[in-house]
Formats: sequence, structure tokens, C-alpha cells
Amino acid sequence: MPAQLIDGNALAQQLRANMATEVAALSAQGHRPGLTVLLVGEDPASQVYVRNKVKACESIGMASSLERHPADLSEAALLARIRELNADPAVHGILVQLPLPKHLNADLVIETIAPEKDVDGFHVASAGALMVGQPGFKPCTPYGCMKMLESIGCNPRGKHAVVIGRSNIVGKPMAMLLLQASATVTICHSATPNLAEITRQADILVAAVGRPKFVSADMVKPGAVVLDVGINRDDAGKLCGDVDFEAVKEVAGWITPVPGGVGPMTITMLLQNTLEAAQRKAQ
Ligand code: GUN
Repeated sequence: MPAQLIDGNALAQQLRANMATEVAALSAQGHRPGLTVLLVGEDPASQVYVRNKVKACESIGMASSLERHPADLSEAALLARIRELNADPAVHGILVQLPLPKHLNADLVIETIAPEKDVDGFHVASAGALMVGQPGFKPCTPYGCMKMLESIGCNPRGKHAVVIGRSNIVGKPMAMLLLQASATVTICHSATPNLAEITRQADILVAAVGRPKFVSADMVKPGAVVLDVGINRDDAGKLCGDVDFEAVKEVAGWITPVPGGVGPMTITMLLQNTLEAAQRKAQ
């Protein structure tokens, strides 16, 4: 039997509708949530991403502003601007779009964002809070994956979750969130031998490898929940994930499509984090 689809667009829409109500309530109390997005340089993909983020804020009534800076902006000037935004009470979330031009130290830039405004969840304080189970912002893509599991009634407790990928943005925080939800977690990566043997044990399989159609049907346990974080182009130039969707959907119990799966959830959780930042401030 083919897998059931986890519709990221539908779930994102539902969550955003609920958030719009909360944004309206906060705004009425004089605490309209606000996100500032900083873009340095003119990377074409980044320009599309930041526009989508700002538009998503506007669609639920949040304040948002996009600051474009020239590619030769000095590190001192960028850090100074971030410090100003840290001190601005109307700004609840600060997002510096990555990648940054080479002359800028991305780690230093992210560490300059106040942790209470780090709605990307990339600051070491956010990563540390996640590690020890303290309140902090969760990185948006893994947070969205957890919401997708919840939406289909999949409780990770006692399940074997396998994460392919160990990036700071997806793989590692994904593993921590699944662990926090009492799954038994295995992290696999490019140096893992016998990968298929491990992925075939997964009740929940998260693919965050960055290689088109990397996960084949023989790597998936029948009935597994498969979450595909990848956004790639196949040989024909068509958008595809890290999972061979057509083949794996015949084996899995649930699967996310690409596009229309995890992608729309990432921006939705950015909105959620910005809303949470404003709510904490309003308390
Ligand atoms: N570049 C690609 N994805 C992201 C993201 O989620 N946040 C930021 N800040 N930059 C990105």
C-alpha cells in the first residue's frame, strides 16, 4: 500500500492561521511581534528566501523589515547594526541570512545576536539550551519536522529514529529534539559504514544529506515515517528531495513530498519563534 502524504503546505497554513490570531491579540496589547532580516550581498537564492520570510510575516500580521547591505559591508558595521537591533524593543527576532560574504565571520556575527532574539536558533546559547533541555529557540527545520510528526499522531517515544546528516542547522538539533521526545536516536553521516542496514531499522527516518534521491526503497523499513529535508535538482533539473520519493512511497507508511513538505514548515517555525520571542517579552 502506498504511503500517506504529510502535507507541509496544509499544516503550515493551519498553524499560520492560529498564529495570526495570537499576533492580533499581542498587537492589540501594544506588543506587535517584529522580525528584522539582514541580507548582505546579492546572492540570488538568498534574495528569494528573505523575500519569502518577510512576506510570510506580513501574511500573519507581524511587523517585518528587510535590510539589504552591500556585499562589501565591513564586519564592524554589521556587528554594530546587530547591536542596535538587540537594543530595539520593537524588534523581537533578528535573522542574518546565510551564507555571508567570505570576509565576514559568520560565527561571530551569529554570536552577536542577543539569544532572546535568535529566532533562527543558531546561536551557541540556543544550541546549548537545546542540549540540556532549557528554554531557547529551536532551529526552524527540525522544529518543523517535530510538528509534522505530531500532526500525524506519531509519538517518537520508544521508537528508533535515524537521522542522516550531522549539520548544526538540521542533523544535530533534529537528533536532540527526537531524543528529548524519548526516541532512541542514531545519527548517520558520510563516514557511516553499512548505512542501509541502520536506516532499515528506523521507525522514523529523517534525510538531511543534500544529495538528490539518496534514500532508496531498500533503505526504508516498511511502514516507516520518512521526513525529507533535502532540496535538490535531479538530472533533469527538476526539484527533488534527498529521498527517491516515487520508490520510497511504495514502502513507507508516511512520507513528506518535495516540494510541499518540510520546506513550508521551516518558515512557519520561524514565525512561531518570532511569536514566542514577542510573547516572552510581553509577559
Ligand atoms: N540560509 C539558508 N537557510 C537559512 C536559514 O534557515 N537561516 C538563515 N539565517 N540563513 C539561511
